[in-house]
Amino acid sequence: MDHADQVKLLSRLFELRDAKTTTFAPATRWQSTSIYVDSEHFDNEVRTLFRERPLIAGLSCDLPRTGDYLAVELGSIPVIVVRSENGQVRAFLNACRHRGSRLAEGRGPANRVFRCPYHAWVYDIDGRLLGQPVARGAFDGVDRDSTGLIELPAAEGCGLILVGPTPEAGPIDVPDILAGMGEEMASHEFDSWTLIGEREGTWQANWKLPYETFTEAYHIFALHRDTLAKEVLSTPMLSEFFGPGGHGLLTGREAPKLQEKDPGEWTFKGHANLVYWLFPNVILSMPMTGHAELWQCYPGESPGQCRVTTRFYLPQEPSTDKERSFWERMIDFTMSVVESEDFAQQEAIQHNVESGLYPERIFGRNEPALIHYHESLDRALGVSTVVDDGKAAYLT
Ligand code: FES
Ligand SMILES: [Fe+2]
Repeated sequence: MDHADQVKLLSRLFELRDAKTTTFAPATRWQSTSIYVDSEHFDNEVRTLFRERPLIAGLSCDLPRTGDYLAVELGSIPVIVVRSENGQVRAFLNACRHRGSRLAEGRGPANRVFRCPYHAWVYDIDGRLLGQPVARGAFDGVDRDSTGLIELPAAEGCGLILVGPTPEAGPIDVPDILAGMGEEMASHEFDSWTLIGEREGTWQANWKLPYETFTEAYHIFALHRDTLAKEVLSTPMLSEFFGPGGHGLLTGREAPKLQEKDPGEWTFKGHANLVYWLFPNVILSMPMTGHAELWQCYPGESPGQCRVTTRFYLPQEPSTDKERSFWERMIDFTMSVVESEDFAQQEAIQHNVESGLYPERIFGRNEPALIHYHESLDRALGVSTVVDDGKAAYLT
């Protein structure tokens, strides 16, 4: 992000600080907890949010060169995303056309072909079937030209890669999806960053709970008292919304010193943690250390389970062993804080909600992005899940 934009956001953050406040939502929200346990609601979420709208598969730098691919589970859809021969990103169902075997795992350069592990059918990176070894005359009626991989819509824009959930889904307009945040997202130039680490975990918590972790700084002084709170303040936090998503800026402990300096010296690095809420399931966090984290939260088999993947990126490849080991320690530290402090709480919350004795949660005006998230979810799902007069509307 260019300096002028950093100064603009920091000015708004410092205004909040001067006023001894933080971004407030208009009202407290009484949230029905049915959304974390109700299987009908869960089915609606999976269908509406994960089967009917494009999902973020990664950053542009996940596929730096032609032939690079990424095999991911987007929700429950196994997808290969690949930078094709003409440099554009394409997406295919990760399923061989012969008998449906998985074609690719993980990520890497495809050496220009995908070879099925089962009977070795070969496809090029544009999804065309190139060969069926040891099968001369065996597949009459199978026309290679029309038996390529099943393609899904894909788009790259503003540094992000998105994939549509069905072949019939229409073209994807990334700036439109980002609803006014496109230019800002593009300013980070994620096409030139580099991946430095990747993690995945499953949790006994509804898929929205890990996302919620990243919507407010309020909890930092308490839950992260011995870890993050040494670096980041609970308040103020600037929260601004664009469509169903938005961005937030958390105050670093040293930021007040910055406020006394000339704005020409103001910078996020070391002073503010920028976070993007990419509706409905992705968080892009840019901590003060200068790296980026992509957190993707997916529903599990049931309302009470989820899967979370995390990728860590740097603007440049670390050049020395010392740097590399610094970033490895940073990744371990981040994962240990988030998993043992944040996600442990989410599992405890899920357990309490599943008791059936905890009908509502209270989202404060100082948790505006949490409220905005649930308002956006309700809108997308066509339901109201606010507790009205002590009774959850969704359950009536
Ligand atoms: S399933 Fe892929 S070649 Fe048989
Ligand atoms: Fe946290």
